[in-house]
Amino acid sequence: ANGIRVYDPAFMNTAAISSKITYIDGDKGFLMHRGYPIEQLAEKSNFLETAYLLIYGELPSLQQKKVWEFEVMHHTFLAEDLMKIIGNMRYDSHPMSIFISAFAAMGAFAPDANPSLQGRNLYLNDKLTMNKNIIRIIGKAATVAAASMRVRMNRPFIAPRSDMTYTENMLYMMDAISGAEGYRPDKRLAKALDILFILHADHEMNCSTATMAHVGSSLVDPYSAIAAAAAALYGPLHGGANEAVIRMIERIGTVDKIPQFLEDVKSKKELLFGFGHRVYRNTDPRSKIIREVAETVFDAVGREPLIDVAIALRDAALKDEFFISRKLFPNVDYWSGLIYKAMGFPLDFFPILFAVPRVAGWLAHWKQSLEEGNGKIWRPRQLYVGEPRRDYLLLEERS
Ligand code: SDX
Repeated sequence: ANGIRVYDPAFMNTAAISSKITYIDGDKGFLMHRGYPIEQLAEKSNFLETAYLLIYGELPSLQQKKVWEFEVMHHTFLAEDLMKIIGNMRYDSHPMSIFISAFAAMGAFAPDANPSLQGRNLYLNDKLTMNKNIIRIIGKAATVAAASMRVRMNRPFIAPRSDMTYTENMLYMMDAISGAEGYRPDKRLAKALDILFILHADHEMNCSTATMAHVGSSLVDPYSAIAAAAAALYGPLHGGANEAVIRMIERIGTVDKIPQFLEDVKSKKELLFGFGHRVYRNTDPRSKIIREVAETVFDAVGREPLIDVAIALRDAALKDEFFISRKLFPNVDYWSGLIYKAMGFPLDFFPILFAVPRVAGWLAHWKQSLEEGNGKIWRPRQLYVGEPRRDYLLLEERS
């Protein structure tokens, strides 16, 4: 109209972004990373090995695995000035806010990570710098998470240990009984957390991963891009859902309150957190594996009482036409919060347990978009549906 070329919607269909990292078949409930089904990785791999696979495309050889794990576990310390920033956050700050702030601050501290200081991008075709910062970010993510827990406990920070596995060290830094001779976290819990980290490591082009690739495409340093991706994950429709599930189940309280709650969901007064998914249309394969991990954790620390309400709520929803017709079922977040609660994590700490492993997926997509995209900036187009061109109205001409 008026000479404005209104784009044909077909033009606006942005082509799906191509990627070699993760494949999801939403109808079949199938998920694989670099060709390996998630069930096999959860059973046979560990988090750091899966992170290597996501980022570099192949399972590491014995030598590569040794070097990778050594490097990551020797880049877990945070700079003293960063520890001061984290230590000065209010004790009741949400851990995700601390996580976002810490990575934004790291972007300032690591000069070789800050392209604006160099007037060029250090990552394009500079494998050494890219790999060094990938290792640093994965190594430090667990330490930032543990430090945010220590802020909440108003306790001194605990230095990381390089002689433990990635999740053992994270649990150690959180709740080491300082001074307890030879203290080590329960291996069953560290193993359960490692499986959960594998399940949360990557999930194709979800909201936070798209943010990482999008922000990273402007050639900003990866620490700042991680802060942006973590901010996207923080939301209750995404990584904040595991915390929202527990708050929802606590609000329901007892099994006899479930029918009324489901009525409130149907009348849109409530959302059934932990249910539904944009891609999966009949099952989230991760949810099934997490449900099995729950039982091993309950064997170690005792059964979480809310699990009975969660099971009854799931059973009731899966039999209800409202949820069946909308293809809504438990997703990755439905059971994970119950495990974290049983392990003793504070509720608002749950999204961090999603963010730490997802750092591996964010970095894999960041690396891929720089290498495959040749440093091209992401610039989605839009379909303009506003007013056609018109002339300025003077005040007296306006109604
Ligand atoms: C994650 O993208 C990823 O891969 C994400 C993730 C990852 O690993 O990165 O898998 C992690 O974010 C899992 C999702 C965690 N979020 C939640 O559990 C929050 C609750 N879920 C919903 O907010 C919702 O299901 C979403 C956000 C997950 C998906 O949203 P969509 O795609 O907009 O939902 P839809 O289009 O499939 O909805 C269809 C209908 C709508 O109702 P009607 O308008 O047709 O009446 O179903 C309704 C929705 O309102 N609906 C729900 C619902 N989810 C969808 N109604 C009640 N409770 C829900 N959970």
